[in-house]
Amino acid sequence: MSNNTVDNQNYLDQSPEVRERFARIKQREVILEVRDLSKRYATAQGETEALRNINFTVHRREFVCVIGASGCGKSTLIRTLAGLESQSSGEVLLDGKPISGPGRDRGMVFQGYSLFPWLTVKHNVMFGPQMSGVGNDSAERDARLWIDMVGLTKFADSYPHQLSGGMRQRVAIARALVNQPRILLMDEPFGALDAQTRSRMQTHLLEIWRNIDVTIFFITHDLDEAIYLADRILVLKPHPGEVVEMIEVPVPRPRSTAQFSSAAFLATKARLEALIHPPMPVETDSEDDDAARPRMVRFTDVADNVENL
Ligand SMILES: Nc1ncnc2c1ncn2[C@@H]1O[C@H](COP(=O)(O)OP(=O)(O)O)[C@@H](O)[C@H]1O
Ligand SMILES: [Mg+2]
Repeated sequence: MSNNTVDNQNYLDQSPEVRERFARIKQREVILEVRDLSKRYATAQGETEALRNINFTVHRREFVCVIGASGCGKSTLIRTLAGLESQSSGEVLLDGKPISGPGRDRGMVFQGYSLFPWLTVKHNVMFGPQMSGVGNDSAERDARLWIDMVGLTKFADSYPHQLSGGMRQRVAIARALVNQPRILLMDEPFGALDAQTRSRMQTHLLEIWRNIDVTIFFITHDLDEAIYLADRILVLKPHPGEVVEMIEVPVPRPRSTAQFSSAAFLATKARLEALIHPPMPVETDSEDDDAARPRMVRFTDVADNVENL
């Protein structure tokens, strides 16, 4: 098995339906455009080049995942899109307009729970609309709608500490979506959840996304999560943080967990693995290639080669 193909399926191969879907996506308007984005941090040890010359565009209602090893600049990138961090050079355009600070057109969901612990679920979700100046009745109506949407109707009057981790992330999603953002920015939102809850949340997020007009930009370091969710996957590499590849996920929609073992899914996963975990070079003191190869000792007297049985 080579790195890019599994059972003769290459991650670049697209069925006609998948190809048509990407053609349709590309016809939609560009929501987000990142141009030559670079970010350097000054540290005591000198400069860290967190991002270098990042370029990509995201179309309306597209689902883009970002993947890359720890420290490759994923959080720096999403914080810049959120307007919480300013770039060293380059431009970020949302609907054609430069981003110059946080705004209601972008909703954020982080891994850590960012809810107000002293407010109920309902009041946490109402907070954004109230801040924007709509009346309390209208804020409450909107909050209830989104609390229903994330399946927490019965918990509207509960406090965050009374909820499980998955439920708290549902509140965080409702709180971001109640402002009707153009784009939802999610930084490893399910990273702290157990595997089953995480899987349920992924499916739930796809359901929500199907039903509303929102574009999703989602950071993860879980390859399965990225392939299951994304239309395209932006792969970053560290030191400096650079784009290695933007992958069009060849797995058809609607997605289901049964597709995890499909040829298209596995070929994509093999490609991501090759990009993110390149083979380790064998450390050697010797100039002699043969001497560098690990020596295998045979612990059997049976003459048959098991691979040729
Ligand atoms: N506020 C900061 N000051 C200095 N260096 C930072 C700061 N934030 C991030 N970095 C550095 O920038 C690089 C990218 O970090 P980050 O965006 O958090 O990566 P990721 O989210 O992919 O793990 C890392 O080398 C990190 O140490
Ligand atoms: Mg991060």
